[in-house]
Amino acid sequence: MKTSEIQKLSKQYIINTYGERSIALVKGKGTYVWDADGKKYLDFLAGIAVNALGHCHPEIIKAVKKQVSTLIHVSNFYHIKQQAKLAELLIKHSFEGKCFFCNSGAEANEAAIKLARKSTEPERFEIITMTGSFHGRTLATITATDNAKYQKGINPLPVGFKHAVFNDIESVKKCISDKTCAIMLEPVQGESGIHMAKKDFMIELRKLCDKEKILLIFDEVQCGLGRTGKLFAYEHYNVEPDMITLAKSLGGGLPIGALIAKDKTGSGFGPGDHASTFGGNPLCCAAALTTLKIILRDDLPQHALKMGDYFKNKLEMLKKKYSFIRKVRGIGLMIGVELDFECKEIVEKCQKAGLLINCASGNVLRFLPPLVVSEKEIDKAINILDKILGDYL
Ligand SMILES: Cc1ncc(COP(=O)(O)O)c(C=O)c1O
Repeated sequence: MKTSEIQKLSKQYIINTYGERSIALVKGKGTYVWDADGKKYLDFLAGIAVNALGHCHPEIIKAVKKQVSTLIHVSNFYHIKQQAKLAELLIKHSFEGKCFFCNSGAEANEAAIKLARKSTEPERFEIITMTGSFHGRTLATITATDNAKYQKGINPLPVGFKHAVFNDIESVKKCISDKTCAIMLEPVQGESGIHMAKKDFMIELRKLCDKEKILLIFDEVQCGLGRTGKLFAYEHYNVEPDMITLAKSLGGGLPIGALIAKDKTGSGFGPGDHASTFGGNPLCCAAALTTLKIILRDDLPQHALKMGDYFKNKLEMLKKKYSFIRKVRGIGLMIGVELDFECKEIVEKCQKAGLLINCASGNVLRFLPPLVVSEKEIDKAINILDKILGDYL
């Protein structure tokens, strides 16, 4: 099928939540994808931080093929070996605790929200989240998210969420009441245009949570699993949360989300308190186990840091050349370039020129390449970008 045929079919049968889309991707390998008309693209979006190992990594293919022909799905009424092994590996590399598996980032956050309420006194139900946050698209997670656009027209929203100003500890303190059970935040905000939590803020948050007996939840759905240069973004701060949520990169492209909770918190859930039919099934866990092993074996966090610095240096050079670039920011391979104007058109031009990126928060070009990206591929992306930005001088 050609792009135009796929487009026609989508328009007729897919509910239009994703707006106008001009290409259909049908094949991927490493950092490249191809559309239905055979055009090749350098993928610096990576399924919005999903394809950490690039597309169709041979070891993921092998692991998935093996699992597909052995056991694809069984209910959580039974033990699942791959799930237990994945949990073991996640815990070995984070903190003492336990995992719950689901299918997406929003579901991982839902699990964290439920567990935070369950594991504190019944009168404590409020969760404080931050301005600029994004936590997903379920009813609870859009309420946690600070973006009125996503909340419009679907009232009533669940109660029990307050928004404090990101990186402002006094604002967080003002939101705390005797009803607060948790504070939830992204160590590096992705959707609002790549904003990092400050170290002092994180340290103060931990102190505040300990003092007030409030749980600290880090949403590492986008920034976790090596993207920032550490396996978990919280490691940059030396501040341990009580829970971490993960998804995106975890499954090597297969859908899986995870909640990691410290033992004192995890025991808030007992049999029947939470569940997911597909969550933690053998297939997705086999893919995730392989993904995580490769991230660790190949020290991809270190590679992400090195490539991120290389990329940022090149972007800083573009900033010197183009005065409409306000700021280059980010850590590892989670990079934002803030412009003086809306960047939708630049994203479209990049796509035409064979580079996939996206636009966050209206005027921030967001770059989330696979963690395996090379200097040569970064140079290629920079060349494309340079040519396009030249039109805006
Ligand atoms: C920080 C963060 N949390 C949660 C989510 C929601 O994840 P999902 O789309 O898998 O539900 C996202 C998705 O972009 C995210 O970036």
